[in-house]
Amino acid sequence: MSRDTCQTRRSLIAAGAAGVGLLLVEPVRFALAASKEEKTREGIGPVEDLMREHGVLRRVLLIYDEVIRRLDAGKDLPPGVVADAAGVIRRFVEDYHEKNEEQEIFPRLEKAGKLVELVKVLYAQHRASRGLTEVVLTSSTPAALANAESRRRLGEALRRFTRIYRPHAAREDTVLFPAFRSLVSPKEFAALGEKFENKEHELFGEEGFEKMVNQVAGLEKKLGIYDLSQFTSTL
Ligand SMILES: [Fe+2]
Ligand SMILES: [Fe+2]
Repeated sequence: MSRDTCQTRRSLIAAGAAGVGLLLVEPVRFALAASKEEKTREGIGPVEDLMREHGVLRRVLLIYDEVIRRLDAGKDLPPGVVADAAGVIRRFVEDYHEKNEEQEIFPRLEKAGKLVELVKVLYAQHRASRGLTEVVLTSSTPAALANAESRRRLGEALRRFTRIYRPHAAREDTVLFPAFRSLVSPKEFAALGEKFENKEHELFGEEGFEKMVNQVAGLEKKLGIYDLSQFTSTL
């Protein structure tokens, strides 16, 4: 065998080995990239987490609006809808979302001396809305819904609740959360996002948020307000 032929054979063997190596490395690299993407998608930050919870809350406010409309018109309500909607508010908004705000967001702003007056109002509104939810829960049993005075009281509690929460959530989204964001380091921010997520899984299981959204969608369907296109209008 000539020296040139020998050199060519060695080159071919080396190229073949590199090819096999590439074939083995590529799937691993692809799997790592996929799992990284998966993590990024799952690991949303704490502010996005709180804001999408406001999205669930806003959808319950739309349910409350429809219930108020039906109560005012003397119309019937599908069984269990009001109690279930108030249950979402109690478990997901008051016992989870508001607690996260009170334990992790408000104290950091108070400590930094930022938005102290706003935080006081937000605390007071959490307390007030909790009292209103209590009234909604006691006034939405089948027996209470058959009683005119209870229906009036229910309508009043729902009206007051939506009156508090629309400006409350809007102020948090546009003023409180941006101020909080400017106070914490990226590392602390990421750690808090993980903490919120773990708590959500602990309280509501895997896919806890999605389950909550599905439950709210089910209530919207019962009231005939699920189809989004019905809200489109032009002049
Ligand atoms: Fe709040
Ligand atoms: Fe909030």
